[in-house]
Amino acid sequence: MAQAKPLMRVLAGEAVWPPPVWLMRQAGRYLPEFRAERARADFLTRCTTPDIATELTMQPIRRYGMDAAILFSDILVLPWAMGQDLRFIEGRGPVMEPIRNRQALAALSPDRVASVVAPIQETLRRLSTDLPASTTLLGFAGSPFTVACYMVEGGSSREFAVTRTMALQDPALFDDLIALLVRTTTDMLIGQIDAGADAVMLFDSWSGILPPSQFRRHVIAPTREIVAGIRAARPGTRIIGFPRLAGLMAIEYAEATGVDALACDTSVDMAALAKRVPDTLALQGNLDPVILRAGGQALTDEVRRIRNPLRGRPHVFNLGHGVMPDTSPDHVGQLVDAVRDPG
Ligand code: CP3
Repeated sequence: MAQAKPLMRVLAGEAVWPPPVWLMRQAGRYLPEFRAERARADFLTRCTTPDIATELTMQPIRRYGMDAAILFSDILVLPWAMGQDLRFIEGRGPVMEPIRNRQALAALSPDRVASVVAPIQETLRRLSTDLPASTTLLGFAGSPFTVACYMVEGGSSREFAVTRTMALQDPALFDDLIALLVRTTTDMLIGQIDAGADAVMLFDSWSGILPPSQFRRHVIAPTREIVAGIRAARPGTRIIGFPRLAGLMAIEYAEATGVDALACDTSVDMAALAKRVPDTLALQGNLDPVILRAGGQALTDEVRRIRNPLRGRPHVFNLGHGVMPDTSPDHVGQLVDAVRDPG
């Protein structure tokens, strides 16, 4: 069957005009209907209750008619599903019981993942029947390096110095953690595809803190294994990779991992990048979330500045990082209108 979803056509390497659009963190606190739902349950309960997760995923689709719905969940659901303690604390973000030695690693239970994520599969099944026919349903996971950063550090950090020191001082332990994440992430993403996701995205938010030699080892190699593992099990699966702040290494990442689309952070000059990658590689991005927050003429101008030079090549319009919680919902509407303006 010819692919009718605009975003899936772009992931297949086709240029679509105007480009399809969705936003990272499009389901979030900036929406009043999200804040209303938020009072009902804590974050992990919202992720694992199909009624709530389906509703939260649908909210931005109803309001703006985005070209993609991204599953409401989190990259840290995977370590939590393996038994690592996780809480989300207001104003501080995720807090986890750190994994810093063999005993802690051995205490994780990869066998539990399938049953813990079963409700998330149910959410995907519901969404795949509820969504408009032209809307792409995206599943996702964190990339092993970024998830390992939170698991070892025990939460957010600017440098992830503990994690990176462990990778250097005890490489066998760190490699075993990454290998565990490669296996469980591959299985979880195959499960998401089987439950109805049209494509999946790998978030590597912290890949940019690594020097090239370690980027190749901890970012490119594990990502390539996941991409190959998914494609071996479910041929033709479309995969978006987001090596945030990777700079020039993003080019090597795209080539070596075999992702269908390269998601670009705000720092990337996408028109310049487009000249250095194959014409069939889709590029996704990359408006600055602060320009979205500011709105006005600067927003409309920036949408055109990003969108127009990419006309004629596969491009998915998005932000360079997630929507900020204090963004006006009207500005998101303005962005979608500007992307879809035929001019
Ligand atoms: O994009 C979406 O709307 C889909 C759902 C989604 C969430 N997190 C929901 C969420 C996705 C794809 C993520 C990815 C994620 N989670 C990343 C990678 C992308 C990035 O932002 O760099 C990372 C690093 C995480 C880990 C995480 N989750 C942090 C650091 C935090 C706390 C910071 C914050 O913004 O509150 C979360 C919590 C989180 N994940 C919320 C949501 C909607 C906020 C929870 C709430 O307040 O209700």
